[in-house]
Amino acid sequence: TQRPYVIDEMISAKAIAARIEALSREIHDEFDGTDKLIVVGLLRGSFVFIADLVRELDLPIEVDFLEASSYGDAQQSSREVRILKDLRNAIGGRDVLLVEDIVDTGHTLTHVLALLRSRKPARLKSIALLDKPSRREVDLRADWIGFEIPDEFVVGYGIDFAQRNRNLPFIGKVRFTA
Ligand code: PRP
Ligand code: MN
Ligand code: MG
Repeated sequence: TQRPYVIDEMISAKAIAARIEALSREIHDEFDGTDKLIVVGLLRGSFVFIADLVRELDLPIEVDFLEASSYGDAQQSSREVRILKDLRNAIGGRDVLLVEDIVDTGHTLTHVLALLRSRKPARLKSIALLDKPSRREVDLRADWIGFEIPDEFVVGYGIDFAQRNRNLPFIGKVRFTA
């Protein structure tokens, strides 16, 4: 049974859209001229962000997904990153943009970047919508970050709390009421 809680809006859908527009211009500048970019979403949390991001990207891209889980349904990171679903296609010699919803301890992104790097892509970059630097356990920063946030329990726009609230169109923070 879940403790009762409410969700307070933290980053509006409008603010997210504006930030994605700006980020997509920077990503376009980085990858301008390429015909071999694969945008990789980390399931499940990144599914909303990657959908909005790729629709702002005026580049010839492919989209693929990878699932790595470190949290399961618990609130605390197990520090163990498991690959649950691998990419469909090879990335050797390709340009790769890894898309993540949030970097917390940094274990997930670190592990997945190392895995992808071992496959020898031509270029490997990463973008995270949210960054919680105060929670970091490994030294890592995504190449692009949407918003730096304090250590709040955030949900929405793909991010879950016990698998719920991924479908909220904004980023909210969980506030327990009992
Ligand atoms: C969450 C989140 C990031 C990761 C960040 O994923 O979506 O992928 O944890 O944590 P870290 O920086 O401490 O590794 P989760 O494992 O909950 O899976 P999900 O995306 O399916 O919700
Ligand atoms: Mn995730
Ligand atoms: Mg999760």
